[in-house]
Amino acid sequence: LYGERASTWWDGRVRGDLRARLRLGEGRADPYPLYEQLRARGPMVATRQGSWQTVDHHVCREVLRSRTFGVVGVEGTPHPDDLPDVDLSFLGKNPPDHTRLRRLAAPAFSPRMMGRYTGLVDRTLDRLVENVCARGTFDLVDDLAAPLPIIVITEMLGVPLEDQRTFQQHGVALGSALDGLHSLRHAREVMAAVAMLETMFEGLFALREREPADDLVSTLVAARGDRIRPEELAPLCSLLLVAGFETTVNLIGNAALALLAHPDQWDLLRADPDLAGACVEETLRWDPPVHETGRIAFQDQQIGGVTVRKDQWVFTLIGGANRDPDVFPDPARYDITRYAEGAQSGVRSAGTPAGEHLAFSGGIHYCIGAPLARMEATRALRTIAERLPTLHRVGPVTRRRSVTIRGPRHVPVAV
Ligand code: HEM
Repeated sequence: LYGERASTWWDGRVRGDLRARLRLGEGRADPYPLYEQLRARGPMVATRQGSWQTVDHHVCREVLRSRTFGVVGVEGTPHPDDLPDVDLSFLGKNPPDHTRLRRLAAPAFSPRMMGRYTGLVDRTLDRLVENVCARGTFDLVDDLAAPLPIIVITEMLGVPLEDQRTFQQHGVALGSALDGLHSLRHAREVMAAVAMLETMFEGLFALREREPADDLVSTLVAARGDRIRPEELAPLCSLLLVAGFETTVNLIGNAALALLAHPDQWDLLRADPDLAGACVEETLRWDPPVHETGRIAFQDQQIGGVTVRKDQWVFTLIGGANRDPDVFPDPARYDITRYAEGAQSGVRSAGTPAGEHLAFSGGIHYCIGAPLARMEATRALRTIAERLPTLHRVGPVTRRRSVTIRGPRHVPVAV
């Protein structure tokens, strides 16, 4: 582990490897100039570790949608950054296991179910906004952006109220590993969180077997057998929990930061809170919460003008693809009317639908939680514009240390 860290540092600082530099402090603070350096080198850039990286929108989209790439190699070769012994459920599986498990979770994210959760989202926002208004000065992440998705996903799963805090603690610990492990101590903490979550979920499964309720865990417990093996249940629930905790918080956080940094756009949203949905889409494009994913080639193939060999990884740098000038006119500009109804988006000659950002990935692993994330973030931004119009920063922003996940850790604000 430390050997790999040291070589990353060496590659990044001394040899100027862009993938390494992206993963160091420089990339964490602002990856966008590094993405432009990659773009200048062509659609596919080799890494020193023998894989490929790309910020080309067309290539990213093709790789993510291709059936000749997967998330695990044909011989079971896992992702190089995967943690040993952490089962990522269907996020880390190829078909047919991927299809079988995803099908079980998908109904929970249907439009009908989203309709059911809008009430909970609005009630939660109401409570959070009342609390911050009473205080005047608060942390936008801890007091607004983070609690909302946590409350919603624990409720969807059916975690009893008294257990929510403990699930949250272990979920956050597991989520901290999305970027890899940075020390032996961190590895121990993550593995302990995995074990604790499994034990807590086993207790919840037993409860819902005795007393089924109208929630996702009850549905999954009832499906145990042919459709889901008992040992697959806890990893699936942990995946949903962590995905629910660690992503939408950054979408709301990145949107708030972008608005505060672009007063003209903040004015636009305050004047017309109906732009909240378009503002969410532009934030997903301009500063997405997930910056990178990867696929392994099942066979030798030509893509982006190079030959990708069987078992080679291609890292699709979503944050860079979302600023591809061939797809998005004036890509570095944050413009919340870009996705407003009737707005003109960029057109790409190769047949890519105009202005489609890749924040939720593409193909069979396209984010299952996208409707939930969009619904929560849109309602949150509308509420902020309507009820906290005097919102402004009162202290320095601190960022998360992660590279894969991008978002603020603390944003001190006042109303
Ligand atoms: C997959 C992003 C919110 C659950 C993904 C992937 C991305 C992503 C990029 C695909 C990774 C890949 O292709 O390798 C996001 C973003 C979110 C968000 C930016 C918020 C703004 C959520 C929420 C949930 C969720 C709220 C659930 C509660 C999942 C699951 C997968 C996934 C289960 C795996 C899908 C599969 O492998 O078929 N997400 N996500 N996500 N997401 Fe999200």
